[in-house]
Amino acid sequence: MKDFLSISDYSSEELQDLLDLAVKMKAQYFAGGNPPLAQGKVMAMIFQKPSLRTRVSFDMVMRHLGGDALYLSPAEIGLGKRESVADVARVLSGYVHVIMARVFAHEHVTELGEYASVPVINGLSDFNHPCQAMADALTIQEKFGSLKGVNVSYVGDGNNVAASLMYIAAKLGANFTIANPEGYDMPAHAIELGRKLAAESGSSITLLNDPHEAVKGAQAIYTDTWTSMGQEAETEKRLKVFPPYQVNADLVAKADKDVIVMHCLPAHRNEELTDEVADGPHSVIFPQAHNRLHAQKAIVARLLGVA
Ligand code: CP
Ligand code: NVA
Repeated sequence: MKDFLSISDYSSEELQDLLDLAVKMKAQYFAGGNPPLAQGKVMAMIFQKPSLRTRVSFDMVMRHLGGDALYLSPAEIGLGKRESVADVARVLSGYVHVIMARVFAHEHVTELGEYASVPVINGLSDFNHPCQAMADALTIQEKFGSLKGVNVSYVGDGNNVAASLMYIAAKLGANFTIANPEGYDMPAHAIELGRKLAAESGSSITLLNDPHEAVKGAQAIYTDTWTSMGQEAETEKRLKVFPPYQVNADLVAKADKDVIVMHCLPAHRNEELTDEVADGPHSVIFPQAHNRLHAQKAIVARLLGVA
């Protein structure tokens, strides 16, 4: 596979292999540092939206591996506006060794992949967030040993993060449940694919509207912002619809007693996640954010063909 655009593009074996490599590279990093596998290699990082984790973790991935990263802001590139997506892909392919892009329209990242001769990584699109899902899987694996049979319940908006989480759960055998308000479902094509992948691994996909029912037996509860980047005009409306989906102590008490609480961050504290839970004993939100670094190191090393 040349690019890393969606979890669903990879086989279970390839995904588990990436996780195994991430575990190895994480241990290596904490034992004194990673070997300079990407020496002389540069990543172009295209951002159409703001970022803390994606920007800094990918930059650190390249530095830790002896390479370099170049941040390209929305104003600089004007992806699809100043210049066509295909031309940006073809030009950058002559300058850098890998492209990471955070875009609004998912088609922009697939088009980058189609026209770039170097690997392209999806750093979040309106459709999914595969690098986040790899870090999420690493975090779940660290807690439970593997994803097989783990009950993962997502509570909130059926958004990009939910779709990638569903795919990786289905690929690696975790049971995925989502509770979202009516009208805020994951796209039908994503659900259809999720069901197909779950059938292949023998896991389940459960679609609900009741958050309390969704967290029964949950070993991981996951939530994300109620209003994703690009949906700001709907903020007021969403703030009225989503409060019953808040992950708070009452909801967490209905899950498995050893449940972990996850969030891709940035969190809107006391909206989708209370301070009490975010900073409480079940929360893994910061180790989860830190795992972006290790999961992405494995993705970059494999795409560059250096590990
Ligand atoms: N979780 C995540 O992708 O965070 P950023 O938007 O800060 O990159
Ligand atoms: N669903 C959020 C994730 C941010 C990392 C968004 O797209 O804004």
